[in-house]
Amino acid sequence: MSPGRIVRWRKLLYRGRTALGEQRGVVVSAARLSRRDMVKFSALGAAAVALPLGRVVNAKAVSRLPASRLPKPYTLPFVVPPVLAPVGATDRGEPIYEIRERLATAEILPGFQTPVFGYNGMTPGPTIKAQRGQPIVVRMINELPATHPQWGYTPWTSCHLHGSASKPQYDGYASDITQPGEVKEYHYPNIQDARTLWYHDHGVHHTAENAYMGLAAQYHLTDGVEAGLPIPKGAYDVPLILADKMFGVDGSFMYDDAGHSGLWGDVILVNGRPWPSMTVAKRKYRFRVLNASLSRGFRLQLGNGAPMTVIATDGGLMPAPQQTTQLRIGMAERYEVVIDFAAYKKGDKVELRNLGVPNSVDYDNTGKVMQFEVTDDPFDPAGNEVPAALNPNMDVMGLLPAQAKTTTKIEVIRKNGFWTVNGQTWDDVIKSEYKKVVANPKYDEIQIWEIKNSSGGWFHPVHIHLVDFQILDRNGKPPFAFEKGPKDVAYVGENEVVRAIMKFTNQTGRYMIHCHNLPHEDHDMMVQFRVGDDTADNDPIESDRPRKA
Ligand code: C2O
Ligand code: CU
Ligand code: CU
Repeated sequence: MSPGRIVRWRKLLYRGRTALGEQRGVVVSAARLSRRDMVKFSALGAAAVALPLGRVVNAKAVSRLPASRLPKPYTLPFVVPPVLAPVGATDRGEPIYEIRERLATAEILPGFQTPVFGYNGMTPGPTIKAQRGQPIVVRMINELPATHPQWGYTPWTSCHLHGSASKPQYDGYASDITQPGEVKEYHYPNIQDARTLWYHDHGVHHTAENAYMGLAAQYHLTDGVEAGLPIPKGAYDVPLILADKMFGVDGSFMYDDAGHSGLWGDVILVNGRPWPSMTVAKRKYRFRVLNASLSRGFRLQLGNGAPMTVIATDGGLMPAPQQTTQLRIGMAERYEVVIDFAAYKKGDKVELRNLGVPNSVDYDNTGKVMQFEVTDDPFDPAGNEVPAALNPNMDVMGLLPAQAKTTTKIEVIRKNGFWTVNGQTWDDVIKSEYKKVVANPKYDEIQIWEIKNSSGGWFHPVHIHLVDFQILDRNGKPPFAFEKGPKDVAYVGENEVVRAIMKFTNQTGRYMIHCHNLPHEDHDMMVQFRVGDDTADNDPIESDRPRKA
């Protein structure tokens, strides 16, 4: 099929999606395509994503590279991102970290140099380790080129520390952009419970491309509660950053979000490596799983169906560990999972698979994530337990529905060709000079948010900045066992209503709410709320401007 024809096809498919998807989330246009056309189309790539997935024949691949140039799953070694060291300290003794956002290359596929946007040139970026009660400063320097070499846009950035109750001016507010050649210092308070956070780009309308190009990394906050537990630590506390990519013939990342519906790559990276294999000792490991994909949801399962123990959710340790054989993880969600390899023999291989979720496109190898290969190497026996009580976290998990006087309704919905929240877009916020809000809780107010997705064709992982919340129910039923901890992203599935309770504390000012399918967020499923009042010291754009680097 000629490129022109592909474009026409995509327009046709996408028109079907927008016109009909708005009403019922079911795309009828696809029914008119023959199965042969769909297969042909899928093989060509991204256009397949505009189809209702229940009816899509799974395609083999979307990358333009011949399959022979992609590594075989489980042949490359597993790596862990390095830990970042501070470069100095403020007069108040706060450690200062420096990160340069740069265009660099990475050998992701053997024999290819893939252009990436890296924090210090790396993707994922270096891990930052912080202690509760010790604020830090991150000096973020945008050294990206004035225009993206292939995609032509200006890579302005705004760094968001996802999971942190930072002040609005340090929260990576989408429109608080730092242009190439500018620098901004972010102040992180580290006032919350221990947790796995992540920092990623949030620059308005280019969050998806910037994050996809590589601007994402973990940040670990520790505290006395966590330190006092005999759970795996140190070498046995391991980040797993999942992301899917598609590659062009030259090994560069391809970007195709199928008319802003989503991007589903055929290559699964863990910590930047395709389908790696990790050697493990016969003991417990704690994996900090982060789904850093733009649009792909995962349902993780061990190849032999063995149980995994979830000990923490987005906002840190759960009151009690939860066993599960399947773990669904939407974009931006974090789950800390303990897997015990004690019962295996040397040489045993345990696969971590992805069973997939509705409305994420599967390809030949997207059902594979990584492999663990068991050794009988000696190991440190410390921190090899999961106690029955972890962290009661009464501030979040102790909230009771009766304490909430207000229920705020949030509807994620496609309207007039845009992704919206309550019919509003970020452009409406911009037009209001950043004043328009969907909620204005008082400081310390407790509210229930009822988040509704009436589409059958899309799921939306909804992220509320600033707060941790407790999921009360999903379509009136209890949340999954693995969700029974503090959260900041709620997977709002097809035709679901999720109710969550939260306390608006720690800061005042304006914060974003958005879908974490980043092409949805950029176009333009993002709005904001305000806690308390606006002040001179909480304006997300004006209170602390970037400066020339
Ligand atoms: Cu992870 Cu508003 O973002
Ligand atoms: Cu966030
Ligand atoms: Cu969405």
